[in-house]
Amino acid sequence: MLIPENKISEILNASDIVDIVSESVILKKSGQNFFGLCPFHSEKTPSFSVNPAKQIFYCFGCSAGGNAISFVMKYHGLSFLEAVKMLARKHNIVIETRQMDPAKRAEIALKESLFNLNKNIMAYYAGLLRQDSSADGARQYLAKRGITRATMDQFHLGYAPDQWQGVVDFFKKQRIVRKTALQSGLVLPRKQNNGFYDRFRNRIMFPIFDINMQVAGFGGRVMDDQMPKYLNSPETPVYSKSRILYGLHAAKQYCRKAGTVHIVEGYFDFLSLFQNGIKNTVASLGTALTSEHIRILKGYAPTVVLVFDSDAAGINAARRSIKLFMKEGVDTRILVLPRGDDPDAFVVNHGPDAFLDLAGKAESVMQFLLKVAMDTHGLSVEGRIRILDEMKPHLADIQDSALRSLHVKELAETLNIDERAVLEKIKEQVVHGHQGRYSLSGSSEDPSDENRFLSSDPREKQLLSLMLLCPDIIPEVVDSGVMDCFYSQRLCSIAKIIANADPLEASFVNHVMAKMQHDKDRQLIASLAMAQGPDKDTDMRKTAISIINRIIRIKKRKENILTTKIIHAEKGCDADVMELLKMKQQEIRQLHDGQ
Ligand code: CTP
Ligand code: MN
Repeated sequence: MLIPENKISEILNASDIVDIVSESVILKKSGQNFFGLCPFHSEKTPSFSVNPAKQIFYCFGCSAGGNAISFVMKYHGLSFLEAVKMLARKHNIVIETRQMDPAKRAEIALKESLFNLNKNIMAYYAGLLRQDSSADGARQYLAKRGITRATMDQFHLGYAPDQWQGVVDFFKKQRIVRKTALQSGLVLPRKQNNGFYDRFRNRIMFPIFDINMQVAGFGGRVMDDQMPKYLNSPETPVYSKSRILYGLHAAKQYCRKAGTVHIVEGYFDFLSLFQNGIKNTVASLGTALTSEHIRILKGYAPTVVLVFDSDAAGINAARRSIKLFMKEGVDTRILVLPRGDDPDAFVVNHGPDAFLDLAGKAESVMQFLLKVAMDTHGLSVEGRIRILDEMKPHLADIQDSALRSLHVKELAETLNIDERAVLEKIKEQVVHGHQGRYSLSGSSEDPSDENRFLSSDPREKQLLSLMLLCPDIIPEVVDSGVMDCFYSQRLCSIAKIIANADPLEASFVNHVMAKMQHDKDRQLIASLAMAQGPDKDTDMRKTAISIINRIIRIKKRKENILTTKIIHAEKGCDADVMELLKMKQQEIRQLHDGQ
């Protein structure tokens, strides 16, 4: 490991998992745990839990789990090292990075210098907008669009000068190396290969912040009708379009308070709404929303209002994003603005109250889709069949079966079609449209011998769970030799790690977790430690002993069966069968390890 274990313990001791998770998930206390909506999968009822005593989180829905470091990694999409550094920074803990893998160190250093460089350029652009005479036009443009001085300051708007060398010269003065300059996306190489030129020229500049308030990239708008109207930073090591939402750094607290977030498309849409007091808003910057965006937003508000222009492009964009939101199980409303208005124009022309009024009445996704379909096809017999055809992929996309059946019922009623007929149609869709990715009829178990033979032994996990809950029983587990009888090699090696951990450590579970190399294993430890064991230690011991005996007996029996088969094959010189059986043995092991 690159960072010494005691450093990691120090960082974990300083971090409180409830605080960390609360920054991104709304948590409610219930018994010993806190619960909230899982930021890692779609759900409507909270199955994501945080246990402050064990300092771990675990989702009973998707099995995501781990400690504070795992959460930061998963939530912010960071590597282990980056997550540790982020937590260390938060608690002013210094990490010695000398032993770090040079490639990783270079990557982290690059990101840091890009953030730093972006911050300096933001200040350079903002300085020009504030007082340079070359920015007169830009200031007038912003005034014409109703952007106040306070908004300009709060969002650090700027002006990129009408020059080919503004940023290039700035970089030169700061002695920025060529490679870093290029990777910032702020300058481009000249065709003749002799130096660089500025990407953004004569544009109003919008710095794009990430959730940690670091400047990740920029957008720039022309002040007349030249093309392209907007120019954005390319993807860089610190700017990823699929993760960043404009304005979220400022809006997040308001989203949490309101329980709702408005998603608009543009910079001005965002700024206008925010400036008019509708602060629970973010902008997607005209790009398609991704499931990452949606998962990030889910941490701040349970309800999302997608705000679109009423033109065909707006409606199509709405239809595209809807699919994703449905999949993520987010309560999604669609607000289509009156013809001719985008959110910016609407709030400027009609005021914030009118906007909030419309937002409050925004339709549910199904209502919206149904209305569009009814407008297109009408309610004749053929029309209703077409509507049903159009709606079925959307219904099939809903993964929550209870929710889906509610929608089926509603649709059947609206179209006056028998509910069973609607269900039939959707089954068709699931079978033909999704190559059977999931089934409508719940789990269709195949009770063939083969499957029973392959199904994993839950006792192995139960035993690990007991070892975590009651470390006192560990010596007995070790002595019994049961760990070598585990079918799953993965669980076997995890058991050995638990057995070798120091039972006197204050937070045993977290101590074990710190010894795990892979996040997947930390996740498993979290799930095992969250399990409910018997209340009393003596009962835990009894349960453990009976599990140990069962595992040993089963292992012997399975071995006997397979060995007999292999011996038979050997006797019959059936090399193919033997090969197959040995492969099967291997396969079973892998299958267990994958679970
Ligand atoms: N956009 C972009 N590149 C373009 C056009 C648009 O990146 N060439 C993004 C911008 O983030 C823009 C958003 O898509 O804010 C919405 O675009 P559009 O509806 O065309 O513009 P508005 O936001 O209404 O821009 P404005 O009000 O400044 O005309
Ligand atoms: Mn606009």
